[in-house]
Amino acid sequence: MLTVEKPIVTSRLLLRPFVPADVEALHVIRTEPDVLRYLYWPPATLDEVREVVDRRRTMNRLVEENDYLVLAAVCRDTGRLVGEVDLCWTSVAHRHGEFGVILHPRAQGRGLATEAGTALLDLAFGQLGLHRVSARTDSRNAACVAVLRRLGMRQEAHLRECVRFAGQWYDELVLAVLAGEWAARGD
Ligand SMILES: CC(C)(COP(=O)(O)OP(=O)(O)OC[C@H]1O[C@@H](n2cnc3c(N)ncnc32)[C@H](O)[C@@H]1OP(=O)(O)O)[C@@H](O)C(=O)NCCC(=O)NCCS
Repeated sequence: MLTVEKPIVTSRLLLRPFVPADVEALHVIRTEPDVLRYLYWPPATLDEVREVVDRRRTMNRLVEENDYLVLAAVCRDTGRLVGEVDLCWTSVAHRHGEFGVILHPRAQGRGLATEAGTALLDLAFGQLGLHRVSARTDSRNAACVAVLRRLGMRQEAHLRECVRFAGQWYDELVLAVLAGEWAARGD
């Protein structure tokens, strides 16, 4: 069980629960073609984003299996929402979680996804006590694979044509890192 009440502070970011004032900035991210390219989501309307933010206001805790923790990533120096990180508690018995990260294109290429991911994995393996954290991504999403590898994840699977979106089949990769590997990073 894990609850995030106060922002998690990294060197350049605050990771905090979503608030109603985030709707506009999240709408920009959720309609940005560079963000959506490999996500299999259509661009979201403003009303849809309002509903998403409303649901997310309580997604600051992991209480039972399949709960999602979703945190806004906010630049400390500008106060701007630049993305989000999430962790799903996919198995309580097997202590598994699934990680994801999204950044506005202007925030990419600066190591912010790695910074936010590191803080979330610290929480996942530390306070939540997970044994394994995995991530799935479209096999063409090289930037995502690169950030997952920077976080110490190894590729475990290549799932052929496992996603059907807009009349096409897509491959996904599964990458993962174990608690022991996380603890040993940098050795
Ligand atoms: C996936 C995604 C979050 C990766 O973002 P990113 O900014 O490339 O990832 P990082 O934070 O690790 O930054 C790495 C880049 O910053 C550079 N960088 C600069 N300063 C850095 C620092 N202090 N630390 C690490 N990298 C740094 C790296 O050299 C690298 O640049 P490169 O891509 O030219 O090699 C981003 O591409 C994205 O939001 N995509 C759209 C949504 C999506 O597909 N999400 C994944 C769903 S599974």
